[in-house]
Amino acid sequence: MDEEFWLKRWEKNDIGFHKVEPHRYLLRLFDSLHVRPGDPCFVPLCGKSQDLVWLRARDLRVVGIELSRMAVEAFVSENKLHGTWQTRSGMPCYLAAGFKLFCGNFFELTAAHLSGVRAAYDRGALVAMPPEMRVHYALHLAGLLPSGSRVLLVSYAYDQIETYGPPFSVPVDEIKVLFEEHFQVDLLETEDSLWSHQGLAARGVTQLSEFAVLLNRR
Ligand SMILES: C[S@@+](CC[C@H](N)C(=O)[O-])C[C@H]1O[C@@H](n2cnc3c(N)ncnc32)[C@H](O)[C@@H]1O
Repeated sequence: MDEEFWLKRWEKNDIGFHKVEPHRYLLRLFDSLHVRPGDPCFVPLCGKSQDLVWLRARDLRVVGIELSRMAVEAFVSENKLHGTWQTRSGMPCYLAAGFKLFCGNFFELTAAHLSGVRAAYDRGALVAMPPEMRVHYALHLAGLLPSGSRVLLVSYAYDQIETYGPPFSVPVDEIKVLFEEHFQVDLLETEDSLWSHQGLAARGVTQLSEFAVLLNRR
């Protein structure tokens, strides 16, 4: 999945991944991030997710990164933010009260962009990537976060034979292989949830389990 793929998805408004409600795991498992009001929380590949709004309402400073400027602009206008476009450490960034939304490629982010960040939330980032890219994602995320950081990660497992991604099936065992070198990996919750993935059901997926893991940076 190259940049062009995602930019086109936004241009065509082909964004079935976007949900109108914050994710139920974020609501239920937010406390596992151990954040306090005013702390920054990083959201990789953030789209225009309602999770960003929910995190902000918890009094966190939301730091996102999203490839598509169209997505960031949509988020800004749909949520009536009043901010400005600026450049931070060489990357365009939309700044508004409580929001710092980088517009660029996750793999070009450096620790300087995320100064002070010790918490992150991944829904739809790891599962958006094909297998070879997931290895780079795990390593890059580890490089961005200092020891003691926590990441709440939502993923799912289905039979990849039934359809190809994105979104990809990234089961717990693979998450352990990807992250265990740099993170302690703990499974928090899992449930059958094909009901909330009608797009995959329409593509032939017959069973899907969705789960949340907590990654604790060593
Ligand atoms: C599956 S969507 C998930 C969006 C969001 N997390 C949500 O839950 O709605 C993946 C998003 O990541 C963006 N994206 C894909 N590759 C990226 C990259 N390398 N750097 C930054 N954003 C990327 C896409 O434009 C898309 O909005």
